Amino acid sequence: MAPTIFFILIALFIIPANAHLQQSNEDGFISMVISEKGLNFAKDLLIKQAISSLTPLQLPIIEKSVKIPFIGSVHMALSNITIYQVNVSSSSVNLNDTGISIVASGATANLSMNWYYSYTSWVFVPIEISDKGKASIQVEGMEMGLTLGLENQGGTLKLALMECGCIVKDLSIILDGGASWFYQGLVNAFEGQIRAAVESSIGKKIQEGILKLDSLLQTFPKEIPVDDIASLNVSFVSQPLLDDSSIGFEIDGLFTATDKEIVPNYYHKNSQPSVASDGPSKMLEISLDEAVFNSASIVYFNAESLRWIVKKVPDQSLLNTAGWRFIVPQLYRKYPNDDMQLNVSLSTPPVIRISSHKIDATIYSDMIIEVLDANEIIPVACISVMVSASGSAEISRNNLGGSVDLDDFTLALKWSKIGNFHMYLIQSVMWTFIKTVALPYANSHLRKGFPLPIVRGFTLQNADLLYTDSRIMICSDVAFTGSLPF
Ligand SMILES: *[C@@H]1O[C@H](CO)[C@@H](O)[C@H](O)[C@H]1NC(C)=O
Ligand SMILES: *[C@@H]1O[C@H](CO)[C@@H](O)[C@H](O)[C@H]1NC(C)=O
Ligand SMILES: *[C@@H]1O[C@H](CO)[C@@H](O)[C@H](O)[C@H]1NC(C)=O
Ligand SMILES: *[C@@H]1O[C@H](CO)[C@@H](O)[C@H](O)[C@H]1NC(C)=O
Ligand SMILES: *[C@@H]1O[C@H](CO)[C@@H](O)[C@H](O)[C@H]1NC(C)=O
Ligand SMILES: *[C@@H]1O[C@H](CO)[C@@H](O)[C@H](O)[C@H]1NC(C)=O
Repeated sequence: MAPTIFFILIALFIIPANAHLQQSNEDGFISMVISEKGLNFAKDLLIKQAISSLTPLQLPIIEKSVKIPFIGSVHMALSNITIYQVNVSSSSVNLNDTGISIVASGATANLSMNWYYSYTSWVFVPIEISDKGKASIQVEGMEMGLTLGLENQGGTLKLALMECGCIVKDLSIILDGGASWFYQGLVNAFEGQIRAAVESSIGKKIQEGILKLDSLLQTFPKEIPVDDIASLNVSFVSQPLLDDSSIGFEIDGLFTATDKEIVPNYYHKNSQPSVASDGPSKMLEISLDEAVFNSASIVYFNAESLRWIVKKVPDQSLLNTAGWRFIVPQLYRKYPNDDMQLNVSLSTPPVIRISSHKIDATIYSDMIIEVLDANEIIPVACISVMVSASGSAEISRNNLGGSVDLDDFTLALKWSKIGNFHMYLIQSVMWTFIKTVALPYANSHLRKGFPLPIVRGFTLQNADLLYTDSRIMICSDVAFTGSLPF
């Protein structure tokens, strides 16, 4: 059914939320706005799918007795009334704060049916006369419309059919055979009933479609798993915001630990989302507050997954004390020609800041230098490394990923079992290490990114990314490659 599709679309797009809903103590950190262009796309998709799932549509048998001049009472029956094809010539979608109306007008349809009549002739003796045949019906100027209400119920969208209807303006019946008196009698007696049967059957189909669409909406997850550590909370946090040309959704948007240890969050949405200036040219706009990224940072940090033992580097001589002979001679002296490994862990969750045109991250880490001496791991020194990186986001299919590049770093010796040594001595070794090992490693994870809340079957297309004060905005068209389970 058409409605189903529509919803799905909406739902897809919708998963995120609208930017400025009325102040509520629950803030959504991902906002989603479906623009007029997006609504039209959804509407066309919905109608197309609905129409194709509508036909063939079988209508109930219609029969009655009709008085025909000179002939008397004739029993007539129409059976196997089937709507074959419906074409829609124009359609529109309108919004106001009470709901979404979709109207398909100028629709044509063609039907086929079997007719049958019988009557008793009294010319000499009563004889039963009957005939049967086929007819086709052409319906013109049909109009189908529905109004839907969309509501957030406990974090999930609920779709309600507020009104729905189908009106048939004209129909013409073409009989295949039959007597001429029969034709007029049939038209006079049955035209209204055929019209009503078409109208109510289509109306009923639309209702069924909306119910299916709604149950589909109910199956949307409130959390999207990202990996075995984190999920993205995609609960809707406020009512959808409908204005006259767009629908906005606001969703929680924070990362939560999969192990369900709920950590209270103290995030604050920094800015009032506003529609991106080049908004109307794309179907969908998704805005992600920097809190989304910082929540990810905290979840992964708490899961202790931001730890890393480095045993291999491009210049492997750096992982042997011999490679440090001239920079930290006392290390070589104490552990000559021993292999080393680096035990790197972040000391606080990385802090991500988004400002116009750029993303910055500050990463505080501790690097413990460990010597592998006769199967024993001996920590010899710990260096605090503070890295300032600048990042960029990228979209790949429906995932938002990114990468970081080194801006600057500072080193401080935290503790040492081999005596003091100066950080400037290891500055260039560290630079090489960060550039060639640490950042490529981080980027291999960051590039995978996380799934944006886009309904299955829909894919972002020609997405543009822009950074504004504390938010990343994605303005994108979508393509539908799925099929709806009608
Ligand atoms: C009903 O109509 C369809 C299409 O015209 C036809 O294929 C089918 O045989 C008909 N069934 C009966 C019982 O007449
Ligand atoms: C707009 O709201 C009014 C009631 O306030 C309703 O009658 C009308 O059908 C709505 N129109 C649309 C397009 O939803
Ligand atoms: C629907 O459109 C197609 C192609 O334009 C046309 O061949 C067909 O006859 C139309 N059917 C009806 C019922 O108007
Ligand atoms: C109804 O549409 C079908 C498919 O286009 C076509 O084959 C058939 O001839 C049409 N019937 C009438 C009465 O227009
Ligand atoms: C997801 O977000 C909703 C709304 O903010 C909240 O009520 C719910 O507790 C969150 N779920 C988890 C697992 O944090
Ligand atoms: C890495 O260092 C941490 C302390 O920061 C320690 O608990 C852990 O055992 C070390 N891991 C290895 C493999 O040396």
